[in-house]
Amino acid sequence: MKGNSQSAMVITVSSVILLGLFVGAFESYPQNYEERNPNQEFYDEVRQLMNLNEQYRPSDIQSDEPEKDTADKPDRPRAVKYWPHENLTLGQVSAVSVNSQLHPVIFHRADRVWDYYTFNETNHFQKAYLGPIKEHTVLTLDSQTGKVLGKWGADLFYMPHGLTVDRHDNLWITDVALHQVFKFKPGEIQPTLTFGVAFEPGSDTNHLCKPTSVAVASTGEIFIADGYCNSRILKYNAAGGLLRVIPKQEFLSLQVPHQLALIEPLDRLCIADRENMRVVCPRAGLYTVKGNKEPALTIQQPDMGRVFGVAAKGNLIYAVNGPTSKALPVQGFTIDPQSETVIDHWAPEAGFGNPHALAVCPNGSALYVAEIQPNRIWKFELVPPKK
Ligand SMILES: *[C@@H]1O[C@H](CO)[C@@H](O)[C@H](O)[C@H]1NC(C)=O
Ligand SMILES: *[C@@H]1O[C@H](CO)[C@@H](O)[C@H](O)[C@H]1NC(C)=O
Ligand SMILES: *[C@@H]1O[C@H](CO)[C@@H](O)[C@H](O)[C@H]1NC(C)=O
Repeated sequence: MKGNSQSAMVITVSSVILLGLFVGAFESYPQNYEERNPNQEFYDEVRQLMNLNEQYRPSDIQSDEPEKDTADKPDRPRAVKYWPHENLTLGQVSAVSVNSQLHPVIFHRADRVWDYYTFNETNHFQKAYLGPIKEHTVLTLDSQTGKVLGKWGADLFYMPHGLTVDRHDNLWITDVALHQVFKFKPGEIQPTLTFGVAFEPGSDTNHLCKPTSVAVASTGEIFIADGYCNSRILKYNAAGGLLRVIPKQEFLSLQVPHQLALIEPLDRLCIADRENMRVVCPRAGLYTVKGNKEPALTIQQPDMGRVFGVAAKGNLIYAVNGPTSKALPVQGFTIDPQSETVIDHWAPEAGFGNPHALAVCPNGSALYVAEIQPNRIWKFELVPPKK
């Protein structure tokens, strides 16, 4: 999972922080300050980053500070204690989604881990000789108790990544080792749609390369984030016919689109643009191609770091980052894409380790976060702001 671009990012962030400390030293010489800093905006950002790091220590995150204006405050995620009631035996939990019964469905890697030896330089999976994962990889959990209600997905997958349950309870699964995406109808183990060629990474439109995530619109259109190598989004009609590649017309460059979330009322597809450390929301183009050339909404803030997951609730996005730099807390963000701002930060009291994906319950009452090392699943209640 570690690549040059990733270490480059980490170096960039650390140097930004070091620069911030350096600039801080100059602040005692205000007479020189303006002259020395032609790029005021940049330094303002650095200071903002440092302030945010001060402000959002995990111990402070749960505090209920009196707020000036609760009118447009978002629902706040609050971790549900002792959920699941019993410990589950899980591998790396790479994905979570919620079904029509409002139960979370998770995708985990059982005894398999993604490490340095999993792929070679040309992105070919090196462990096909192990065969598919023998344990069940897809578990449906009870929303109240976290008890396993159902499981399937043994002997099918090699390196689980994305899982999305659509409104008809079809399962959309991405496997980065197979370089494929599948649609499974409820209760079936033969996919009804398959994208990509097994074990063949590629960048033409018949091939995928380590695809990460799927979003399905109520119109039936399908968006595939493809993924670690191609950094593009493919849009298909409900039958699997390719409609569009993003970016094409729009001025947008992605770096590891890692999870997708649709905001249908705004006709936006929000992307966790992981290595660019931002969330971008280009036009989804669900109802009209008009606006396809409009610029994407971009949410980028110094404390965001590498954004792993996004999920929509109404017109807002809930997001999680992952380890980026020691100075950046691993935490959740609540984002208002229309104003391109982060409006809240949140995390469980005990802190996150490596959040990988998240999902909002269709009735908007809960949010789930899947983590890798420690391998676990969190439930959060979405608590309306105090009036
Ligand atoms: C679950 O795991 C935690 C941490 O390892 C442990 O403290 C707890 O006793 C376990 N609970 C059950 C019900 O096994
Ligand atoms: C990567 O692995 C594949 C299949 O195992 C092999 O065909 C390919 O030559 C390897 N590439 C390199 C650069 O070693
Ligand atoms: C949403 O679903 C959960 C789980 O079934 C239920 O407990 C809760 O009452 C529902 N909330 C709303 C607002 O409908």
